[in-house]
Amino acid sequence: MSELDALKERLSNLQRDALAAFDGAADLAALNQLRVAYLGKKGALTEVLKGVGKLAPADRPVIGKFVNQTKQALAEALQQAEAALAVQAKAARIAAERVDVSMPGRRRPAGALHPVQQGLDDLTSIFAQMGFAVAEGPEIEDEFHNFDALNISPEHPARAMHDTFFMQDLRAGDDGEPMLLRTHTSPVQIRAMRRLLDNGGEPPLAVVAPGRVYRCDYDVTHSPMFHQVEVFKVDRDVSMAHLKGVLQHFLSAYFEKEVAIRLRPHYFPFTEPSAEVDIGCVFCAGKGCRICKGSGWIEVLGSGMIHPNVLNAVGIDSNKFSGFAFGLGVERMVMLKQGIPDLRLFFENDVRFLRRMGVAL
Ligand code: DAH
Repeated sequence: MSELDALKERLSNLQRDALAAFDGAADLAALNQLRVAYLGKKGALTEVLKGVGKLAPADRPVIGKFVNQTKQALAEALQQAEAALAVQAKAARIAAERVDVSMPGRRRPAGALHPVQQGLDDLTSIFAQMGFAVAEGPEIEDEFHNFDALNISPEHPARAMHDTFFMQDLRAGDDGEPMLLRTHTSPVQIRAMRRLLDNGGEPPLAVVAPGRVYRCDYDVTHSPMFHQVEVFKVDRDVSMAHLKGVLQHFLSAYFEKEVAIRLRPHYFPFTEPSAEVDIGCVFCAGKGCRICKGSGWIEVLGSGMIHPNVLNAVGIDSNKFSGFAFGLGVERMVMLKQGIPDLRLFFENDVRFLRRMGVAL
């Protein structure tokens, strides 16, 4: 066999092998390796072409044409294989990423507002709508704000009755009085009045103060942590009539019906005169039932005219200004409105209760 024929045969063998290999490439990476193996600088084709030098000069154009045909056949085959593999890869990706739209969705359980939080929000917004400013105070208080300034002197029996949590390690002021967890939201009265005066203002001042309070007490109707809303207004000529008007409006708004109210004389150190406020029983409409113990009335809050000593303690002239104040227990209000029988339900965090009573967001 002549050198020329031998070379031609090697070229057509190479072409046959290459086309078969390209066809069988599993993926684009494998195909690329084959491209290098056959067409690369050190590839099989280069190797065969080394034989061209040995040919007679007359044979060279002949083999040149043959080589070009081989190269072109390889390039075309490569392109085809590449296109086929690309289609295959895309189909595989689409299959892998396929979304089954008939699958049931994953539920995201939604939370709800705790009934106490909902109660705080409802109560606060009723007063905010009446023009009262919302204020908050610290839960860790000193004795001045929690007691003294509210006309509860150190010897006062009310001080003992408050079942206070003292924080012996935390002390306030020069005399190192122990700090305490506030037993009511009334100290916000003192803080709000002081802030007004410190900023150079003077009454009128109307405030609603929602917040957490603490007492060392635990049974069916008491929790060591609970919530109160404190409401007060100071201005010239504020009278008990204003107190009663605000109470009537607020209690009817909260219970979403016209409720009867009654003020019963009572005693609080920080108000004079003081009154406990009853509403006509919301369960029996005043006829008398188990919950109102047959009386037709349910006690809901404590109130009164701010004691002159309290106004004077913050530097408001009690001859010029007067005020009313009241404070209520949020859990109690929510229990009465929603018919919840046991205070402890609020704090046990049983999801069955929270799902039923919680307000969806
Ligand atoms: N601070 C009282 C308590 O926690 C509630 C209270 C009663 C607040 C009468 C008042 C009020 O503002 O006038 O028991």
